[in-house]
This record gives sequence, C-alpha cells and structure tokens, in this order.
Amino acid sequence: MSMGIPFNPSEFVSRAIENIRGIVGGEMAVAACSGGVDSTVATYIAKMALDDRLKTVYIDDGFRREGEVEETLRILGDLGLNPILLDRKSLFYRNLKGVIDAERKRRIFRETFYNVIGDFMKSNGIKFLVQGTIAADIVETKGGIKTQHNVLEQIGVDYGFKVIEPLKELYKPQVREVARYLGLPREISEKMPFPGPGLLIRVVGEVNPKRIEIVRKATKIVEEELRDVDAFQKFAVLLPGRATGIRGGKRKYGYMIAIRVVVSEDAITADPLEIPFSKLRSIADRITSEINDVVRVLYELTPKPPSTIEFE
Ligand code: XMP
Repeated sequence: MSMGIPFNPSEFVSRAIENIRGIVGGEMAVAACSGGVDSTVATYIAKMALDDRLKTVYIDDGFRREGEVEETLRILGDLGLNPILLDRKSLFYRNLKGVIDAERKRRIFRETFYNVIGDFMKSNGIKFLVQGTIAADIVETKGGIKTQHNVLEQIGVDYGFKVIEPLKELYKPQVREVARYLGLPREISEKMPFPGPGLLIRVVGEVNPKRIEIVRKATKIVEEELRDVDAFQKFAVLLPGRATGIRGGKRKYGYMIAIRVVVSEDAITADPLEIPFSKLRSIADRITSEINDVVRVLYELTPKPPSTIEFE
C-alpha cells in the first residue's frame, strides 16, 4: 500500500480479520508482541479475529529499556491481550557473547528469538505466528540495507511455522492510523519506534550486561530530558572504543555516548533535529555525572541517507 493512496483503516481491519481467520481456520495462533505500535496493532487485530485461540507472548531478551518489561506487560494486560512472559535473558547473552559485527548480531538475535518462539509453539502444538512486520522492514531487508530481525519469509528463512503479517503492506503513519481507529491508548498509537533487537544494536560492537546497562541508563536520561521534543526517534548509543577523560583529578580512559534525534515520516529517510544547546548540555552533564564510566557525549548530525537511523 503506497503512500498517497487514500487509506481506510476500517476496511483494512475488516479485511485483515477475515484474512487471519481464513488462514488459521479453527486452529490456534501465537502473536509475538513487543509492545511497540506495529506488533501491538497486529496482535490486537489477531485477537479480534481469533479471541481465545490467540496466545500473546512477550520475550524478555535482556535488551529492553529501564522498566520496559513491566510497563509493556501492564499495557498489554490492560488491552486484554493476556501476555505470557518468556524470560530468556541469559540465553540471549550467551548466544551473543563476543559477537561484534552488526549484521551477525541481528542474525543471532533473530535465530535466538525464533528458536524461543518456535519452542513455545511446538510445546503448545501451534503452527501459526502473527507478527507486526511493516513494509519498511521488508523494503530495507530486501534492499540489503539491514536485515530487520523480523523479516523471514521474504528472504526464504523457514523456522517450521507459518508466519502471518497483517501489516506488511502498511507504512508507519498508516499503522498509527489503524491504532487510533482501534481506540488503542496514545502510549501505543503515538509510541516512538524502538528496534526489535532493542539496546543490542544501541551498543556498537561487543555486547555484555555491563555495556547494556550503560546505554540503558543513558537512554533513560535522553528520553527524560527530551520528553517535550517531538521527534521520530531520540536515543543514546554506546560507541566502540574509549577516550581520555578526567575522574577524581586523574586520567580515565572512559566510554563515549552518542545522542541521536531524528525526524522522519516512515524511517526510509530521516533528518537530524536541531536541539537547543542548553538541552544538549544538560544531557551531557547528566550522563557524565550519573554514569561514572562515560567521559564524553557527542551529538550525531547525519541525515539518512547516507547514514541510517541506528548506528548498526
Ligand atoms: P535504520 O537504522 O535502518 O532504521 O535507518 C530504520 C528503522 O528501523 C528500526 N530498526 C529496526 N527495527 N529490527 C527492528 O524491528 C531491527 O533489526 C532494526 N534495525 C533498525 C530503527 O529503529 C528505525 O526506526
């Protein structure tokens, strides 16, 4: 569904419901839901289509933001989606140990993610998986820009279950329209996008619990300080390597955090947003005073293209 063609959310939802019922028949399905707008809309529509024949799972991979797991379970619970929590933090960290390359990280994340889901489905005798893949995910994966973690069939990967992607022809603005039409709360319909692999791809290079904790704290500070700034995405990234700084009057070879704030319609192109210097200074001051290991904070200025929104 291309941009510019009038889009009717009500017709879209009715067709999607019929479609899901047609595929699943009298059987059961699982929805993998991260609490983001895409997967929540897909799960909500699947719930309308299948009711008790849908199980919603939420995977804790260890790469979520502070408080995100609890918050997401609460929101999904309030929507009547009865999320089942699969805590697989240690499995993800084990599988990703020592991996540095961004695309390898995504591939291992994807494999681990779908093995966890696949095991859950097998043990429950379920063959259908609903997920919130949207058009931009497919376009970029096929174009060889990035392997979005949730794009499977389009690249010929077979995990032994049938994937249902009700939103795969929509772009982000249309998904938000559907969310509003469905009456989902603003905390879902207007939610800032967050990549499926989460903080895993916000740590450039090697990932371990300590490095994730640093970017988790920095992310919280950025989101708090820029609460009133209207942007497509605003986040912190832990850069590879170290730089010289000062702690307690002595040289400290510490970490560097980059801040990225972009405006975008559909994530296919993006522009950096001009942030008042005073705001940038408060972010830098808070990050360096609240996270002892960080000695430098940078603001990233590149549009997409030639950059991408994420650093990895
Ligand atoms: P890039 O970095 O490719 O990001 O300009 C475009 C949009 O996609 C998000 N993103 C991902 N989302 N799995 C996801 O579900 C991924 O592997 C992934 N990589 C990037 C990114 O946050 C932005 O909104």
